[in-house]
Amino acid sequence: MRIGILGSGLMGGKLGTLFVRAGHEVVFSYARSEQKLKRLAHDAQGNARAGTPTEAARESDVLLLAVHWSRVDDVLKQAGDLAGKVIVSCSLPMNAANTELVIAHTSSGAEALAKKVPKARVVSAFNTVPSEVLVGVFGARRKAARPSLVYCGDESRSKGIAADLIRDAGFDPVDAGPLRIARYTEPFALLVAQLAYEGKGGPNLAYRFERLQK
Ligand SMILES: NC(=O)c1ccc[n+]([C@@H]2O[C@H](COP(=O)([O-])OP(=O)(O)OC[C@H]3O[C@@H](n4cnc5c(N)ncnc54)[C@H](OP(=O)(O)O)[C@@H]3O)[C@@H](O)[C@H]2O)c1
Repeated sequence: MRIGILGSGLMGGKLGTLFVRAGHEVVFSYARSEQKLKRLAHDAQGNARAGTPTEAARESDVLLLAVHWSRVDDVLKQAGDLAGKVIVSCSLPMNAANTELVIAHTSSGAEALAKKVPKARVVSAFNTVPSEVLVGVFGARRKAARPSLVYCGDESRSKGIAADLIRDAGFDPVDAGPLRIARYTEPFALLVAQLAYEGKGGPNLAYRFERLQK
């Protein structure tokens, strides 16, 4: 796939690198310095380059949205026309202090995002794991028991693409249902973050759902 990274920080930088290693073509965009984007593209050691959000959007079929909630409008404006694009969003609708969700219960960040870009296809994914686990999970991707990763969205084709990327990153994709289910997955992401950063497990924490046999 041709993947544009909108937000090349902890999540976007790492996931973009893993997507390159999994054989995809990646454009890293949106960081405070172009040098950083070039370094990420160089270090990914594959089919990767640095670009602007406009280039990332124009040259890709799939976009990973990985910016703080306060930067979403800006990066979308810079990306330009997103009609028909699949947007896999790991952005959570956090306040500036990152202490609470600014959208919850009756809606979700994913649904608010879908309203901002009505012609794009939004899938919510990758936001229920700490960035610290990504490289380790990818490294262990050939093991049978992979960590789970929930995702949700309204359209089967874009969900299939997200599921492929989740598998490529080393996780077992768990389809949580339509995009409105992000109302439950986004608070769940905060639980995982709480356990990872303030619990005893430390940041290298991933979860696994087991289906118990009857
Ligand atoms: N980190 C996690 O473990 C985690 C887990 C689950 C969900 N999430 C969600 O994923 C999203 C991204 O999180 P993150 O931790 O990856 O954030 P981050 O490391 O801060 O990355 C955000 C990216 O946006 C860029 N950026 C910020 N302001 C900018 C500006 N004014 N102009 C250009 N670029 C700018 C940053 O540039 P620089 O690279 O130059 O700083 C960085 O590349 C957030 O919505 C977060 O809630 C994160």
